[in-house]
Amino acid sequence: MAIISSKKQPQEPNKEPKQRREVAKAPPKENLLQPEAAIDEGKQEESIRPQRFADYIGQKDLKDVLDIAIKAAKSRGEVLDHLLLYGPPGLGKTTMAMILASEMGVNCKITSAPALERPRDIVGLLVNLKPGDVLFIDEIHRLSRMSEEILYPAMEDYRLDITIGKGSSTKTRSLPLSKFTLVGATTRAGALSSPLRDRFGLIQKLRFYEVDELSKIVLRSAQLLQTNITEDGAAEVARRSRGTPRIANRLLKRVRDYAQVKSFQEVNEQVAAEALQLFQVDPCGLDWTDRRMLSVIIEQFNGGPVGLETIAAATGEDTQTIEEVYEPYLMQIGYLSRTTRGRVATPTAYKHLGFKPPNEQLSLLP
Ligand code: ADE
Repeated sequence: MAIISSKKQPQEPNKEPKQRREVAKAPPKENLLQPEAAIDEGKQEESIRPQRFADYIGQKDLKDVLDIAIKAAKSRGEVLDHLLLYGPPGLGKTTMAMILASEMGVNCKITSAPALERPRDIVGLLVNLKPGDVLFIDEIHRLSRMSEEILYPAMEDYRLDITIGKGSSTKTRSLPLSKFTLVGATTRAGALSSPLRDRFGLIQKLRFYEVDELSKIVLRSAQLLQTNITEDGAAEVARRSRGTPRIANRLLKRVRDYAQVKSFQEVNEQVAAEALQLFQVDPCGLDWTDRRMLSVIIEQFNGGPVGLETIAAATGEDTQTIEEVYEPYLMQIGYLSRTTRGRVATPTAYKHLGFKPPNEQLSLLP
């Protein structure tokens, strides 16, 4: 399977620059817990990325759905239906697209919406597709209106509609395209326009991984990286990885460095915990911003509800990062709930940060 990649580095979406209040400063971070891929991470990620379904751990429901779709398409000799994958970053959307292509025995072209600013960018990609190819577009919710409109007939009828000329002499020409499968990935399914969303035959969510799934991923990656790690060591890394394989693999590499420099023969639970404590990754995988968000809600707003903008001002993070990166995991582990009136810290969050939950405080009253 050939993989052709034309990804641009992620950019800030077009937004007005925001005034920020002075806030408690986050420690300088090589952010180990950011689920987005770091600039230099691509190649390393490539070396341990699973290539086939059989090697892909977790996401059982999604794999079952795709397995059926692949078998059905193959037996009919058709291309796979267009597929929209959504969910938090780092859970394996790109990997899944590459596996799909490899299982179908076709090429996978990888790009992201910010790299398709001009209509000619997407036209260039579409006309070069071979029959059955998978075209993977990351961050598809950021596609420009014009590129999106080029995609509609391409997805529906494998046809490219080109407009030539201006004003009264405008003509439209149609070019046939090879039948292909578009795999779109997004962290914000709700931000897709409905005409685009409606053109995907399969819409599937990726969920956070369980600790036992992440432990298996860490053991597999450690073997590929020739790192000696015990099952307990892998579980310790897994517990601190925010349900996200990309973070688990990144933490594994930091733990490996620590063990090597300190001359430990293997990474066991204690070595992993020591190393990750050094990197300020707490036992639940929370980092400075998570803890700051929760303590602002608890200490300054009596546990909430408090608005997203206020939390953003207090932590110095932008609202989008909070909504797409921090909140999904905090909600998943039951530390935060989102209500119509704002965000609320749960009793579990109080306990984790060493505060007394409100109902326990009440029961202490005379
Ligand atoms: N590496 C990253 N994600 C993985 C997964 N889901 N299974 C196996 N290895 C992985």
